[in-house]
Amino acid sequence: MKKTEPHIVVIFGASGDLTKRMLIPALFNLHQQNLLGHPFAILGVSRTAMTNSEFRDRMMEFLPVNETSADFIEHLHYEAIQTDQPTDYPRLKLRIDNLLSAIDAPANILFYLSTPPNLYTLIPKYLAKVGLNLENDGFKRLIIEKPFGTNLESAQQLNKNLLKFFHEDQIYRIDHYLGKETVQNLLVLRFSNSLWEPLWNHKYIDHIQITSSESLGVEKRGGYYDHSGALRDMLQNHLMQLVGLVAMEPPTVINANAIRNEVLKVFQSIRPLEKESMNEKTVRGQYTSSNIKGEHVLGYREEEGVDANSRTETFAAITLNIDNWRWAGIPFYIRTGKKMPIRATEIVINFRPTPHHLFDSLNSSVNRPNQLIIRIQPDEGILLKMGLKEPGAGFNVKTVNLDFHYSDLTDSYLPTAYERLLLDSIHGDATLYARGDNVEKAWEIVQPILDEWENNPDFPLHGYPAGTWGPLAAEEMISDQINGWRYPCKNLSNDGEYCEL
Ligand code: BG6
Repeated sequence: MKKTEPHIVVIFGASGDLTKRMLIPALFNLHQQNLLGHPFAILGVSRTAMTNSEFRDRMMEFLPVNETSADFIEHLHYEAIQTDQPTDYPRLKLRIDNLLSAIDAPANILFYLSTPPNLYTLIPKYLAKVGLNLENDGFKRLIIEKPFGTNLESAQQLNKNLLKFFHEDQIYRIDHYLGKETVQNLLVLRFSNSLWEPLWNHKYIDHIQITSSESLGVEKRGGYYDHSGALRDMLQNHLMQLVGLVAMEPPTVINANAIRNEVLKVFQSIRPLEKESMNEKTVRGQYTSSNIKGEHVLGYREEEGVDANSRTETFAAITLNIDNWRWAGIPFYIRTGKKMPIRATEIVINFRPTPHHLFDSLNSSVNRPNQLIIRIQPDEGILLKMGLKEPGAGFNVKTVNLDFHYSDLTDSYLPTAYERLLLDSIHGDATLYARGDNVEKAWEIVQPILDEWENNPDFPLHGYPAGTWGPLAAEEMISDQINGWRYPCKNLSNDGEYCEL
């Protein structure tokens, strides 16, 4: 494990939810494992007037009360500034300088922008104005939260603006999916086993499914979500990164540029969706009210902060093709949605059926080809489905599970995504962060869909009752595949059951 240099983490947007729910607990966990090193300090910055001790009290809300948290909390500090006012930045710089000399650390600073996106350009600009982008006396790194742009043009503009003040290798565009253990395990599964790589191509794989379903609706985030939708909120970023890792060529080494180059090549090979094929290859949906177990569940348009006539999608499904040597002719079906039966994210590799069908029974491999399921969450693990002989007379084939559940590694601690990503950025490792060109390329893929959905008044927006697997049109989209979508259950190994809320 790399040694952590003394540093300060400066969190902009420190009064927000993400800070107390995710960032501070992640930093605490790192501290608890002695991974943050010494000395270190955390400076919360936002507009809200608060004293240090009020900030500390607020941050304790999601921390355990014990000796370690009492020690950790001593490292937290707070400064209120008008983040959109350049005149407040000399004061911020002074506060940072004072903290650095108080802890006796060189000026290694990680800035975390957990703010509304309109500040993503202003903050770096004002930091640069007071020299807080210069690395002569220590590293200066910038983590940018999502959303990275709201369309291709704004993402390109944001990259351009950031690059005026910080170099690409100082910019860490966070995608918390890349911080998930099971997402990283994709690389290890693929490239540390000689078993898979020979099969990982169009000759042996029939098609690939990626599902990310959530049982929750938009909760308190209706105001944000109604201007975003499933395509921007989940697909352009998190799910495209999964496509990149599943489909990429083996990198020559594991480092930030080697991996991100390969992901970029995948994105460059994705066939642009033509206007004429939008109806066949994309489906958008919005949840409507329903009754689940006797309880009335609100429809999306009735949610707080959502326009009563909203046409924002809460479900998106698309079919992509990757036009390269490995994946020619192999469809990638991707779907995500809110208010679906369960929360599950998984990648399903569907292998081709055997070339000659020896065992002609209902359960034969003709109907149930091998599947490899990479479960990102929950019940993280890997499941391989294969045909074996049912004991007794004849040759009845039964599909059985070979499964590995991360929970079986009882003594291994599974760090949260933010823990992993924060530590990586402190160490200067951007492997699990999105590079500017990758983000733009992912937008390029999604942009024609957004244009069609937003500008064509005739493009269907299908309703689906809250608590179901989305519109029927999404089943039609995959109807070329005899077995359709795999319906995940909470437990990785269960399937074939239609789980309801
Ligand atoms: C966020 C989206 O990026 O990811 C949310 O804004 C979504 O709408 C969340 O719920 C899903 O993350 P996870 O880690 O719970 O799958």
